[in-house]
Amino acid sequence: MIAADPSHAGILAAIHSAAMPEDAWSAEAWRSLVATPGGRTRIAMDGAEPVGFLHLRCAGGEAEVVMIATHPSAQRRGIATALLEDALAALDGVTLFLEVAERNHAARALYARFGFEPVGRRPGYYRTPSRREDALVLRLGINPGQRR
Ligand SMILES: CC(C)(COP(=O)(O)OP(=O)(O)OC[C@H]1O[C@@H](n2cnc3c(N)ncnc32)[C@H](O)[C@@H]1OP(=O)(O)O)[C@@H](O)C(=O)NCCC(=O)NCCS
Repeated sequence: MIAADPSHAGILAAIHSAAMPEDAWSAEAWRSLVATPGGRTRIAMDGAEPVGFLHLRCAGGEAEVVMIATHPSAQRRGIATALLEDALAALDGVTLFLEVAERNHAARALYARFGFEPVGRRPGYYRTPSRREDALVLRLGINPGQRR
């Protein structure tokens, strides 16, 4: 796993657009996100090949998983699990939030395994010309000293 900096923006955009073609963000958007203070981005590697990433935003005692994605060619091999475990190990004593599309069953199954619990719903949060879908807000408390 490597720490991403703005020079990795193209890699993040490529993995994200392969994993979520309907919700791709530009390399420029990723460059700006990675450069924003309070962000933490890690890229999972398979040898020399970047295969997934997780971007967190941290502020005070809270953090948010802004995006986690695994390239379709590397899914179901524990990449996202390893990225989340790495993030949790860095987030002692923090409450972690995220938003997930209600019909994103793969991501919801992943988060359920980590013990994330639903705490809210944002109606119509995801909007594209072809889609309007609620987001579920999930929360995971990470107790001080409860490193994984
Ligand atoms: C969600 C995502 C990040 C999972 O990545 P991954 O590297 O394949 O996840 P893992 O291999 O660590 O899977 C861990 C567990 O999550 C669950 N899971 C992952 N993908 C799943 C799928 N397609 N269907 C059902 N459960 C799934 C399973 O419980 C899995 O364990 P198992 O393989 O032993 O059954 C990946 O599917 C992805 O990139 N999706 C598109 C981007 C996205 O939706 N991101 C989340 C935005 S909120």
